Amino acid sequence: MPNDSLTVTDNRTGKNYELEVKNGTISAMELRQIKISDDDFGLMSYDPAYKNTASTESRITFIDGAKGILRYRGYPIEQLAEQSSFLEVSYLLQNGELPSRRQLEEFTHNITYHTMVHENIRELIDAFRYDAHPMGILLSTVGAMSTFYPDARDIESAENRRLQSYRLIAKMPTLAAYAYRHRRGLPYVYPDNDLSYAGNFLNMLFCMTERRYTPNPVVEKALDVLFILHADHEQNCSASAMRAVGSSHVDPFSSLAAATAALYGPLHGGANEAVIRMLNEIGSKSKIPEFIRRAKEGESRLMGFGHRVYKNYDPRAQVIKKLAYQVFDAVGKNPLIDLALELERIALEDEYFVKRKLYPNVDFYSGLIYQSMGLPMDLFPVIFAIGRTPGWLSQWEEMLTDPAQKIARPRQVYLGEGERKYVPVSER
Ligand code: SDX
Repeated sequence: MPNDSLTVTDNRTGKNYELEVKNGTISAMELRQIKISDDDFGLMSYDPAYKNTASTESRITFIDGAKGILRYRGYPIEQLAEQSSFLEVSYLLQNGELPSRRQLEEFTHNITYHTMVHENIRELIDAFRYDAHPMGILLSTVGAMSTFYPDARDIESAENRRLQSYRLIAKMPTLAAYAYRHRRGLPYVYPDNDLSYAGNFLNMLFCMTERRYTPNPVVEKALDVLFILHADHEQNCSASAMRAVGSSHVDPFSSLAAATAALYGPLHGGANEAVIRMLNEIGSKSKIPEFIRRAKEGESRLMGFGHRVYKNYDPRAQVIKKLAYQVFDAVGKNPLIDLALELERIALEDEYFVKRKLYPNVDFYSGLIYQSMGLPMDLFPVIFAIGRTPGWLSQWEEMLTDPAQKIARPRQVYLGEGERKYVPVSER
């Protein structure tokens, strides 16, 4: 009997079954052989929210939640944040290796020269109410872009998938900036191809009457690092949405619109905005104990805390916490940082959070930096979406090229009514 297997006895029939253990998993399809009669469908696994189910094999991102480890294609996030750039990391996620100088120059050129959007997209954004949430604008316009690039439907062609990936990575900042300018009633600023990816985004956000916008180098670098930190995170809710919707072979713009919609939720990418709202609601250090009590009672949530995978400090939060002080030195300290630090200190000493292994996650400090950069709260998840775009596209590409993958269609456990006869309304 091979060691890497389970022997399972079905006590209903007395039969034994051998299930192979591979990469720490058993194949769910192997359960189907376990039946109580020939016409029995066979066993399934039941796992709401997929808490203990691997939906794919992947070589993109590795997380060790217990140790607080995050690596993109094997490279520790701390080293990439310190030494790499967002476009280099985007190349790494999509291609599996760090680019040569020439490869990076070519990739950067391809992204830079796809930043413009069709003027009809600008008119579409104009049609939104002045107070429309920018994530609602973003997910709508990303989906609408599928109608401007019908060639994107050819998902069988690797070259075509690459072209659409360039378009999406390049255009997300443009859409985000246009959504922000629309909200402010300001004219849209077209991309400036002489600026860096992060610098051009700041230009499209903040350029006013100056002839040429010059980004603050500290803010530009901090934004590039924040994009790196958000670039991928294995099978999170929005990456799963990208894979599931993409598995129907729809174009990548429509799949990425679904991923953006998933990220919009306050339990996912919307948490960075919710953290600032929470800190404003708490208001002062003296109010922290009452807030913590309500969170422990389940009356509220400590937003920016806790994680499905990390049962240790989110390594991204460690990097962001350090980055915050660099930005504050350049643009002024965010007064909420002291409240956030005190809230973290108290929570990490509280049995409720310690027992549940609830630590600050990527969203706990990121909003403080965005706010200090002058960005409005509802733009924070949009920044997250820009950073996550290469990750979503890498997961999409891996799904499409994995021979084990098919259209995503989970099973269910039916507990509803048995067959019953229709009753005309006159008899009800
Ligand atoms: C992101 O998946 C990813 O990788 C996501 C992400 C990425 O990069 O893609 O890392 C980005 O989404 C980060 C998470 C941002 N969300 C928040 O900060 C929202 C606040 N956090 C939670 O809502 C929660 O921690 C989740 C959603 C993040 C994780 O939820 P789980 O794994 O389903 O855990 P759970 O809700 O089952 O909680 C377990 C226990 C519960 O208590 P009991 O029922 O056991 O008594 O912990 C409690 C929860 O009530 N709990 C919290 C809490 N988070 C969990 N209690 C108070 N405050 C919290 N923040």
